[in-house]
Amino acid sequence: MSHPPVAVVTGAGSGIGRELALACAQEGMAVVIADVEPAPLAQTQALLDELGAPCLARLCDVSKAQEVEALATATWDRWGRVDWLFNNAGVAVLGRAWEATEADWHWTLGVNLLGVVHGVRSFVPRMLGAGRAAHVVNTASAAGLASVAGSSVYAASKHAVVGFSECLAKDLEGIGAPIGVSVLCPSLLPTGIQASARNRPPDLGLTGPTLAVLEERVRAGMAASPIGASDVARLTLEAIRSRRFYVLPHAHTATSVAQRVERILADHRHIHQENQP
Ligand SMILES: NC(=O)c1ccc[n+]([C@@H]2O[C@H](COP(=O)([O-])OP(=O)(O)OC[C@H]3O[C@@H](n4cnc5c(N)ncnc54)[C@H](O)[C@@H]3O)[C@@H](O)[C@H]2O)c1
Repeated sequence: MSHPPVAVVTGAGSGIGRELALACAQEGMAVVIADVEPAPLAQTQALLDELGAPCLARLCDVSKAQEVEALATATWDRWGRVDWLFNNAGVAVLGRAWEATEADWHWTLGVNLLGVVHGVRSFVPRMLGAGRAAHVVNTASAAGLASVAGSSVYAASKHAVVGFSECLAKDLEGIGAPIGVSVLCPSLLPTGIQASARNRPPDLGLTGPTLAVLEERVRAGMAASPIGASDVARLTLEAIRSRRFYVLPHAHTATSVAQRVERILADHRHIHQENQP
């Protein structure tokens, strides 16, 4: 029996993840949606039902390897294939680098970094086994390419996702696998991310102090975004089709990336050229 192509989206209950799921459904794909929040997940499922898309909705905490493995098993039991995998679930904490708590680090790295790692470890071997063309999209952030004050924990997790994704792409290329990789790096846009604490497990302990000025800066950045989550989803699907690795949906991200690279090269020149005898 032939099945429609299958997309898997984590963090599909809200924001970018929901829009990715809807965009895949509009492509005629079956969609597996996963999230920790039951009610928003059910809302995404209802939207997919309206589009007539075959859908499997699963509660899944991506920071837990066994739950991601169960998601992969459920996907293969239902459809026996995955064409596009979106490791998208994420959370954010704000605060000064020396004030973030150990719990802030465990929670953020657990979801943002290990969530992506677990997705790759559980799904990619099965995708390789299937031997058909496929694509993995890991959601990082512009904060994974350049850094701003007040986001050390988040930026560290997202820089790690960028590095992990670059290696994943090279590893797959190295074995001639027909699996492409993209890393999605949006700048600020309005979603539910600023209310991430709603999903923070209570047993993890306290968060460090968040400065009102940082929260206001993020709110203003989101409000000023010229694009929304559905634009990000559309541009991501275009990147998959054209096999582009870096997906930078905001035009202005180019400036902060160029400034960072310029700074690295200027400091390199300082050692290797200007200081030469
Ligand atoms: N909104 C932005 O400004 C922005 C910018 C750059 C990158 N991102 C990234 O985009 C991704 C999606 O975030 P968003 O902005 O749509 O926020 P969002 O809060 O609207 O959506 C994130 C989803 O992830 C889910 N989630 C949280 N913890 C989870 C866990 N442990 N397991 C499974 N699901 C979990 C949430 O319930 C939510 O549905 C994140 O990785 C985020 O870091 C967002």
